[in-house]
Amino acid sequence: MEKYMINGGRKLSGKITIQSAKNSVLPIMAGALLTDEQVVIKNCPKIKDVMSMLNILSHIGCKWQFEGDNLIINSLTADKYVVPKELANEMRSSIFMLGALICRFKKAKIYAPGGCNIGLRPIDLHIKSLKKLGVNVSEVQGQIFCSASSLVGKDIYLDFPSVGATENIILASVLAKGKTQIFNSAKEPEIVDLMNYLNSMGAKIYGAGTSTILIEGVDRLHGTEYTPIPDRIECGTFLLATAITGGEIEIHNCNAKNISVLIHKLCDNTCKITTNNDIIYLKNKLMSKSFSFSTGPYPLFPTDLQAQTMALLSVSSGKSVVVENVFEKRFSHVSSLIDMGANISVKGKRAYISGVNRLNGTQVYASDLRGGAALVLAGLNAEGQTIVNNISHIERGYFEFEKKLSSLGADIKKIY
Ligand code: UD1
Repeated sequence: MEKYMINGGRKLSGKITIQSAKNSVLPIMAGALLTDEQVVIKNCPKIKDVMSMLNILSHIGCKWQFEGDNLIINSLTADKYVVPKELANEMRSSIFMLGALICRFKKAKIYAPGGCNIGLRPIDLHIKSLKKLGVNVSEVQGQIFCSASSLVGKDIYLDFPSVGATENIILASVLAKGKTQIFNSAKEPEIVDLMNYLNSMGAKIYGAGTSTILIEGVDRLHGTEYTPIPDRIECGTFLLATAITGGEIEIHNCNAKNISVLIHKLCDNTCKITTNNDIIYLKNKLMSKSFSFSTGPYPLFPTDLQAQTMALLSVSSGKSVVVENVFEKRFSHVSSLIDMGANISVKGKRAYISGVNRLNGTQVYASDLRGGAALVLAGLNAEGQTIVNNISHIERGYFEFEKKLSSLGADIKKIY
C-alpha cells in the first residue's frame, strides 16, 4: 500500500501547470466511441481514472496509445457493449459509458455503481432519461441491460441538474433522430467542454452552460483533435495548498472564471489573488480568517473542493460552517482532521469548525479522492510528520501530486 510521508511546515512557493480536467476527459474518452475515426485528446493526464477508462475502452475493442501527453483513441474495431463488473468497480464513473454504448451499439450492459465513500450514487435520473429516448432498461442483480431499436429525440426534464445524467443524455442523443432538449441540465464547465468536443466532431449541440441544452441529431460524427479545459479542481487544490502553508504560487493553464467562487472566498479571507489570462497568482502571508460556504451545482461552490477548503478552515481564525448539499456522505475526511487536532463537529449535512493555530502530524487514511487531498493539505500545515495511507484514492484524480508539491518546496515523499 503506497503512502505519502509529509513533514509539515514548509511554505509552498513557485510555479505549476494544471492538467486537463479529469471530469472533462472521462466523458470525452467515452465520446470517442461515437466515431470510427481517430480522436486525439491533447494534454490528457495519466491519472488512475483515465487508465481505468482505457481498460474499459480496450475491453470494448477500441485501440489507443499515448504520444507524449496526447491520447489517441480509435474505435473502428469496437465490437463489445458489455462493461464487466471488475472494470466497472475500478471506476464508478464507468456509468458515463452508458450513453456512449447505447449510441454506438443501441445496447449496453453495465453495472450500477453502488454506495461509495461519498454516499450512494443513484442513477435513476440517467435511466429515466434514457427511457424517454426509447431505451428499454432492465436490471438483474445489479447489472443493467439497455437496448433500443432506434433512439428518438425527446424533451427531458431533470429533477436535479446531475452532471453525469446530462452527459449520458448528450452522448446518447447526439446521433438520435430529431431534437432532444434537456431542461434543468447541469451547467458545469465540463458539460460545455463535452459539447465543444462533440461539436468539433460534427454534432449539433447548443446551450451547454445554461439550464436548457438542445441537441439536434446528426447522421454521423467524424474524428477530431481536442484540448480539454484545465482542471479547476486541481487548480483549486493547489490554491488551497498554498494558502494553508502561507506561501505564494503562480498557477499556469487555468481558467479563473471556472473557480471564481473559491477565488472570491480566498480574497475575502487573507489571500491576495490576481489573474492574468490563464495564470493565477496567490500569496498568503497571514493566518487565514474563517469563512462559511455551502456546496451546490455550478456556479455554486464545488463539492469537489469542500474537503480541501475544510482543511484550510480548520487552521483559520474564527468559526466556519460548511454545508454539503450535493452528496449525502461527504465528510469522511473530518475524523482524520480531528485526529490531527482540528476542532470540527458534524450535524447532518453541516460541519461546524473552530479554527486552531496549527494541526499535528499523525497517521491518517484517505477514504476518497478529494478527502484524501484534504489530508495532504492538512499534512503540509501540520507540525511534525503526517502519513497519509490509501493514496490510490488520491491518484485517481491528481497526476504525480507529490512531485508537483515537492517542486513547490513541500517535504513530501511517496513510500511503499
Ligand atoms: C460528477 C463529478 C464529480 C462531482 C459531481 C458533482 C465526474 C466524473 N464526476 O459526478 O466529481 O462531485 O459531478 O459536481 O464528472 N443523483 C441522483 N440520481 C441520479 C444522478 C445523481 O440522485 O441519477 C444525485 C447524486 O446522488 C448526487 C447528486 O445527484 O447526490 C449529484 O450527482 P451528479 O451531478 O450526477 O454527480 P456525478 O455525475 O456522479
